[in-house]
Amino acid sequence: MTTQMSTSTTTPDARSTAPGLLHLRAAGVSLVLDTSGDRLPRVVHWGADLGDVPASELEALGATSVPPVASGTTDEPVQLSLLPEQSVGWLGTPGVTGHRDGADFSTAFAVTDVEVAHGIDRDGAPVAHRVVVRAHDEAARLGLVLELELLVDGLVRTRAEVTNLGGAVFTVSGVDVTLPVPREADEILDFTGRHLRERSPQRHAFVAGTHLRESRRARSHDGTLLLTAGRRGFGYRSGEVWGVHVAWSGNTRTFAEQAMPQGVRVLGAGELLLAGEVRLAEGESYASPWVYGSYGDGLDELSHRFHAYLRSRPQHPRTPRKSLINVWEAVYFDHDLERLKALADAAAAAGIERYVLDDGWFRGRRDDTAGLGDWTVDADVWPDGLHPLADHVTGLGLELGLWFEPEMVNPDSDLARAHPEWILQTGNRLPPEARHQQVLDLAHPGAWDHVFGQIDAILTEYPIGYVKWDHNRDLIEAGHTASGAAGVHAQTLATYRLLDALRAAHPGVEFESCSGGGGRADLGILERTERIWASDCIDALERQTIEAGTGLLVPPEMLGSHIGSPVSHTTGRRHELSFRGATAFFGHLGIEWDLTSATDDERAEVARWVEAYQEHRLLLHHGRTVRADDPDPALRVHGVVARDAREAIFAVVQVATGVWAPPGRVRLPGLDPAATYEVRPLPPGDEVVPGHGEALPPWWTRGTRLSGRALAVAGLQAPNQFPERTVLLHLTAL
Ligand code: DGJ
Repeated sequence: MTTQMSTSTTTPDARSTAPGLLHLRAAGVSLVLDTSGDRLPRVVHWGADLGDVPASELEALGATSVPPVASGTTDEPVQLSLLPEQSVGWLGTPGVTGHRDGADFSTAFAVTDVEVAHGIDRDGAPVAHRVVVRAHDEAARLGLVLELELLVDGLVRTRAEVTNLGGAVFTVSGVDVTLPVPREADEILDFTGRHLRERSPQRHAFVAGTHLRESRRARSHDGTLLLTAGRRGFGYRSGEVWGVHVAWSGNTRTFAEQAMPQGVRVLGAGELLLAGEVRLAEGESYASPWVYGSYGDGLDELSHRFHAYLRSRPQHPRTPRKSLINVWEAVYFDHDLERLKALADAAAAAGIERYVLDDGWFRGRRDDTAGLGDWTVDADVWPDGLHPLADHVTGLGLELGLWFEPEMVNPDSDLARAHPEWILQTGNRLPPEARHQQVLDLAHPGAWDHVFGQIDAILTEYPIGYVKWDHNRDLIEAGHTASGAAGVHAQTLATYRLLDALRAAHPGVEFESCSGGGGRADLGILERTERIWASDCIDALERQTIEAGTGLLVPPEMLGSHIGSPVSHTTGRRHELSFRGATAFFGHLGIEWDLTSATDDERAEVARWVEAYQEHRLLLHHGRTVRADDPDPALRVHGVVARDAREAIFAVVQVATGVWAPPGRVRLPGLDPAATYEVRPLPPGDEVVPGHGEALPPWWTRGTRLSGRALAVAGLQAPNQFPERTVLLHLTAL
């Protein structure tokens, strides 16, 4: 085995002097990797920074992490590697599962080469440390490349590539990488949900066995974006917590496992492969998606690492995030030029900067039963094409956006009639329809070319600056017609290729990832899109939870959040505009409401929200999201603090009636303890109507001055609000 230290730029915090032991450090995180011997590397520590550890201590750390032999187990201590193997006695989930016609079902990789680099840029993103381990298993005739990177903001990511080195086809059933968490991580927090109610948190004890979250529908309203485990009771601001995320937009597996009898705990993830989906001929490889791991003292810190990583990428949107109007809930399929122009007028008058024409503009699309797959403008509804609308919208100074659902097809479409063989299916039967649609097999070159060609033509003909890319059904029994083989893996790669090709052909266009709301919000899709639509539910109360969960991974500037109608279309709840506005304000703001039906007062108030968003979006989209661990379940306190902590905006959200009133002192965390802040209500989020059950604390009208420390540990009295209302506070350091 050889170890190469390729050091492009050696960072001062890189220590790798003890033989085989690598101490990787970045932004308060240490990861100690034991690469000694010829077995796959073991993570000795992943978590809080260990400081500057001398070589002798590093060696001692490695040595003292080796467990004793337990009764009833193998005679050698079982050591868990990044890609666990039965061949060292690990009896939890193995890293590589697969077989060659029934044989070679278990691996024993021998490391041939370890390459270490520090302070480099990969794909434009800064990487503090990168370790590449090459190995092969002679008996199973498999090669392996295992990568682990610690990014500059303390996020770790790892993935594995398996190659069939010879002989018959090797069927890969799964490649799952794991990261160990300590015994102290005894509580799991992950997320579930459904269409219209994404990211519902669930907490439970970390007990023996495997808590496995699978998504086998190629999207995940119900799947977990993040699976975390931490010290019991961990919150946003404190409590050690570790979490993993798999950057893949197809089927996924994410798990927390306590393997017995040793009780070792791991977080693991990978792609969920369907039977026979990946079959490697000699020389072929399968690369797993990146699995990201984040550590924090509290969820805020864990989340900041994801935000910082996303913001460090070259493709991250850097210009001010345009406020938009999306016409979906205003008109649905009822496309009428004059009505759509009137909406544009109302949006422009409110200061909106982008106009998104949603579903319903293309051939045959009068409702959701027909048309998907025929991406040409419907000549009956749009006799002059989209030009009259495009001219009107751009004439008002707004950018035009357009909706597509590129991966889908309605059986009632010219495309399906011409090419039934391009529909993913198996067993000579079509999958059950969902929303009257099927999934197009984009891995079929003809299908891919068709979709690329039609979308490319529309983007070329019209002045479109924004695409909303939707995906409204699960992939069920998704096989290729020609081979009969499962096709979700290939479909996911083909979707990425399609997006990449369209982006390359139209570099100025922004893309939004929507999947019936927040069904596709992973880092795989976010590598090639600028925004996700968090949910089809715009109800501001529901959004408090949906966005808190989604926002752990997705920073506010990428998280679409709209001001909906006074009565929510999906819950029937009525909310004041102040609550709807103060909710949308913290994401990438949009309007999704028939503004032509709004009163003059409402339109004026919308304009005030848009103006406030435009005034503060630099702070909102570059600062750190903070969430207080408020003891009152009726209250949520969250905000954004500028990176230099000179400014902040907080929301005090009354999500329900409190058991007591007034709510009492709320703490505002994440500020500079040494700075003194001027605290004032922020219009238009300052609307409280005293005398109607609402009441203001005495400090409110004149504002106050308090230190960051006092605000974090003592807090200040909040107004007594009606339920489902929010007030905003603006803090500026003096
Ligand atoms: C589902 C999306 O989430 C909605 O916003 C809208 O675009 C519809 N699809 C259109 O069919």
